[in-house]
Amino acid sequence: MSLTTPRAGASASPLASSLTKVTMPALTEMKRQGKPISALTAYDYATARLADEAGIDLLLVGDSLAMVVMGHDNTLAVTVDEMLHHTRAVRRAVRRALVVADMPFGSYHGTVAEGVANAVRFVKEAGAEAVKIEGPRFELVEALTEAEIPVVGHLGLTPQSVNRMGGYRVQAKTAEAVRKLTADAMALAHAGAGLIVLEGVPREAAAQITARLPVPTIGIGAGPDCDGQILVFHDLVNLTFAPAAKFVRRYADAGALFRSAIERYREDVEHRAFPADAESYHLSEGERRGLGLEPERETDEADAVVNRDAQEWGS
Ligand code: KIV
Repeated sequence: MSLTTPRAGASASPLASSLTKVTMPALTEMKRQGKPISALTAYDYATARLADEAGIDLLLVGDSLAMVVMGHDNTLAVTVDEMLHHTRAVRRAVRRALVVADMPFGSYHGTVAEGVANAVRFVKEAGAEAVKIEGPRFELVEALTEAEIPVVGHLGLTPQSVNRMGGYRVQAKTAEAVRKLTADAMALAHAGAGLIVLEGVPREAAAQITARLPVPTIGIGAGPDCDGQILVFHDLVNLTFAPAAKFVRRYADAGALFRSAIERYREDVEHRAFPADAESYHLSEGERRGLGLEPERETDEADAVVNRDAQEWGS
């Protein structure tokens, strides 16, 4: 092994500095130390970069992108190639967070060998550092672990099972179901899963599983007692078009912000108020004269680049 290009701030000790790369073992260490793990979905370069720079520990390229980015009614339609495309964009943005790719519906529901082959693509072709799979698939988790691919399990309300569940419903609502969920979580950890997402389960169930499990739990609609929390980015900033679920907290109204910015832009275009002269490039005085144009401007300072990419867009 040869470490030829370590990132600035890289260090041998997990959690030693804010730029230390987050790894699966570092997340287990956070559980041991009682430090809450922050996780968020990300699907593109800009938002992944913002989330990474804000110190989010884990970024999941969730198959929820089928709904919030692609506009499907559920997560079932998104393909491996589409997930790879988004995972690559996120990977390019991230320096610190652990990048986890969601395996889409159909990519691990056949043979174990097919599941492993698809998971390898996420690591090899997109730079994912772990893959997430839904349901109690112990044999597959063992095979992925054997293939050196870290696994995030996902139990409770598993959206890829929407047709079997008959909708998105809170799971494990009886003592017997909580016992089964706990046994599944323990078996997934035993098979090698390094992290388990618990979605849409009663707080009491998540608390019991979190207390028993040797690996961290990340909750979404599973109450505050998990080792960490995850939300869908578009829910967090209100870029969705439906009422929020009970467990969602909106931290910003990007929908309203974007809508107003876009409307103001349209009005400016319609009233010829955009672009202004100061937002335009100009010929030099000499060239203006050559075209028989009046000298209108004192200097060429107004050509100063207003764009962020001075190199590319210099006048
Ligand atoms: O796809 C997704 O966004 C997820 C999270 C809700 C955990 O699986």
